[in-house]
Amino acid sequence: MKEKKYATMFSAIEHKLTGVLGQGQYDWVDRRVFDQVFDQSTLMSVFKLMQQGHIDTIEWPIARGKEAHVFFAKSQSGPVAVKIFHTSNAVFKGLMQYIEGDPRFGGLRRRHRELVNVWVQKEHRNLMRMRKNGVRVPESLMTRNNVLVMEYLGDENGPSPRLRDVTVDDPEKLFKELLRQLRMIWQDAGLAHADFSDYNIMIHQGEAWIIDAGQSVVQNHPKAKEFLVRDVTRLCQWAQKNGVEADLAEATLFVIEE
Ligand SMILES: Nc1ncnc2c1ncn2[C@@H]1O[C@H](COP(=O)(O)OP(=O)(O)OP(=O)(O)O)[C@@H](O)[C@H]1O
Ligand SMILES: [Mg+2]
Repeated sequence: MKEKKYATMFSAIEHKLTGVLGQGQYDWVDRRVFDQVFDQSTLMSVFKLMQQGHIDTIEWPIARGKEAHVFFAKSQSGPVAVKIFHTSNAVFKGLMQYIEGDPRFGGLRRRHRELVNVWVQKEHRNLMRMRKNGVRVPESLMTRNNVLVMEYLGDENGPSPRLRDVTVDDPEKLFKELLRQLRMIWQDAGLAHADFSDYNIMIHQGEAWIIDAGQSVVQNHPKAKEFLVRDVTRLCQWAQKNGVEADLAEATLFVIEE
């Protein structure tokens, strides 16, 4: 019954997934990657998002990470980025073999999936909260279970580069700009980004965009200040590496001072 429903659903959207079925130019998108990312429940979520018009076709992969794959997709309102979080990873699978089948501890797979879904909600809400408060982040458009649809940063040919992949003309100016963004995240959005680095900043149409907010926490999280200081430290290290005289104490004060 479940299999049949799944087969019907899959055949309905198969032609909209050509970019992830190994028919594209990306050799790493083979059957294994497809199975890793698009398990039955993920396909079901994608199917629903397609029915609702949030996604039309998934075209090609942008990036693969430990926790998520990001794809370029098209929707009725234009291009979007679709971040699909893995519902299982190697560590979890390793632990599972010792628990699965033991009747005393059932439903673990489902609980793990629920945890991933909460993480996706967290990224969605963090992005919305930052954006509402003026921080330059992609607009988070929609989520469903482990799938997040957001504004795409790039053009037809590919995504915009990450900060770590470009040489910046005026590092001092960018340093000050990013410090202002960190200040806005902390003071206006009331959050600590908590993974601020040149991996998680994209340079799009001449501006720095902050991405990857799943781990961001509210100010009264017990580790919020620790994360904030780490974010500012990383930014200062980036600046120093690029020849800017960045002072950590001064920078931290600028971010937290009202
Ligand atoms: N909105 C977007 N538009 C275009 N490309 C994006 C967008 N969001 C992310 N990317 C690309 O995908 C890569 C991975 O995205 P992101 O940092 O959000 O996930 P991640 O690092 O895999 O997550 P995690 O930290 O959980 O491992 C980015 O480095 C960037 O190149
Ligand atoms: Mg990242």
